[in-house]
Amino acid sequence: MGESEFKARRFNRYLLLDHLVDGGMATIYRARELSENMVADKIVAIKVIKEVHSQNSDFKDMFLDEIKVAFGLVHPNISQTYHYGDCDNQLFAVLEYVDGKNLKEFGDLLKKKETSFPVEMAVYMTSQICQGLDYAHKFTDKLSGLAFNIIHRDISPHNIMMDYDGIVKVIDFGIAKAQSNTEETQAGTIKGKISYLAPEYLQENTVLDHRYDQFAVGLVLWELLMGKQLFTGKNDMMILRQIYECKIPKPTKLNPKIPAELEKILLKSLSKKREKRYKDLDQFNRALTKFLYTNYPDFNSNDLQSFLQKMFAKEISKNQKKLRKFGEIDAAPFVEDLKEELAARKNKGINEQTMSSMDTADSVSKKREFVERYQKLSNQNALNDAIRDSVKQMVFGSTSITDDLDKTISAFIMRQRQQKTATSKKQPQKDGPKKIKPKQEPKPEIDEDLKEMINGTKTDIKHEQEDEEGPKRQKQKKLIIYAVILVVVILSIIYVKFMA
Ligand SMILES: Nc1ncnc2c1ncn2[C@@H]1O[C@H](COP(=O)(O)OP(=O)(O)O)[C@@H](O)[C@H]1O
Ligand SMILES: [Mg+2]
Repeated sequence: MGESEFKARRFNRYLLLDHLVDGGMATIYRARELSENMVADKIVAIKVIKEVHSQNSDFKDMFLDEIKVAFGLVHPNISQTYHYGDCDNQLFAVLEYVDGKNLKEFGDLLKKKETSFPVEMAVYMTSQICQGLDYAHKFTDKLSGLAFNIIHRDISPHNIMMDYDGIVKVIDFGIAKAQSNTEETQAGTIKGKISYLAPEYLQENTVLDHRYDQFAVGLVLWELLMGKQLFTGKNDMMILRQIYECKIPKPTKLNPKIPAELEKILLKSLSKKREKRYKDLDQFNRALTKFLYTNYPDFNSNDLQSFLQKMFAKEISKNQKKLRKFGEIDAAPFVEDLKEELAARKNKGINEQTMSSMDTADSVSKKREFVERYQKLSNQNALNDAIRDSVKQMVFGSTSITDDLDKTISAFIMRQRQQKTATSKKQPQKDGPKKIKPKQEPKPEIDEDLKEMINGTKTDIKHEQEDEEGPKRQKQKKLIIYAVILVVVILSIIYVKFMA
């Protein structure tokens, strides 16, 4: 990642130390917080949105919505959002730093070591995820009393972090997804994520609710226990087909170490029909913790810490060295620089707030408007009819899946998600009971694009098959006819001779 070449620099009132992830949409940095009268500092994570997206007004609105959803969440199993703003034409969010890795990274490292998390640790980690998410699902804004009805919608091992002490935190509550990404990137972005969709995403007239997240938590638990994803396939269509059918093999058959009792809990969370899942994540968590302390009464969260420190000793030591190097950087010149900038701004009559020139007005009525918009987003059908039918048609109607079609569906689902966000934003709801008529949503033009594409591709596939198989079959047919004629002639000759 070229971290060694990274030169510490100031960004707003933060000292960027290195970058953790350089994604298509944002870069995530580790940073130290600077202040004018600095006596102490701490490490934070900063998500800086690339300039091209930061300058897009729709994206900016979505980013602010993401902040509004995440900002009030304060829970030990959620990475807190501390601050947000707009600096050097880039939007940014400052997050509680998790000194560890995401669960995908931990899983990959363990796989390399040909092992996986012990059952009790996987169960404990999942119970922590349940606690963080259950809190978010039931979150009520303290200052307005408004219930947000948050659904994360993007739970996967990538969006769950664990520090090297074994503290688990859910990240990425954003509803702002790569609005302005290219189709290529969008396809790439959804690619890894398609495996974590719940079956109701592909069902008719479904209004997603918190049980959508529960299915994904079940998939995460599956992955922690089995060391591999449940829904996999050569292409997205194969994965979608598995999700649609949701026929889940018995974990005990795949891994004899899994106790039958845990299998029952896991399969309940992965029920195709969400009515059969746990009522909420609190119930899922209770089942997990009951199982944990009945079967592993001596388990203590420190065991997870010890496991991580043993398994990842090298990574931890490398990380510590790096952090200590960051500690050696003299913050004083950067603090001076910050002071100068603030003084210059003061002289010009610009206060620090303008440095984060965001719409920070949060009157109750504004909040209500936002909550309604957010809920409408959550209440919309997962896929509108045209798209869902197309998916169904492709899942069941097409045997040959070309790479192009596969790419199209990925990009398509991604665009559909964005379309919903955009649509919901353009139609702020009035006060009063919300009657949700998701079908009234204007059909995105893309439906037609996709339909055409599907029809085109499907026709192409047929033609391709006819073109390829036609001549062969015709030859075979001819041969059979010749053989039959020959047999008839020989038989006739024998018959005539014999009769004569
Ligand atoms: N608070 C944090 N502390 C440490 N690393 C983080 C933090 N937030 C994100 N990351 C790292 O950045 C990655 C992407 O972050 P995320 O917020 O999920 O962004 P994206 O919207 O690109 O998915 C995470 O998987 C993790 O590796
Ligand atoms: Mg993420």
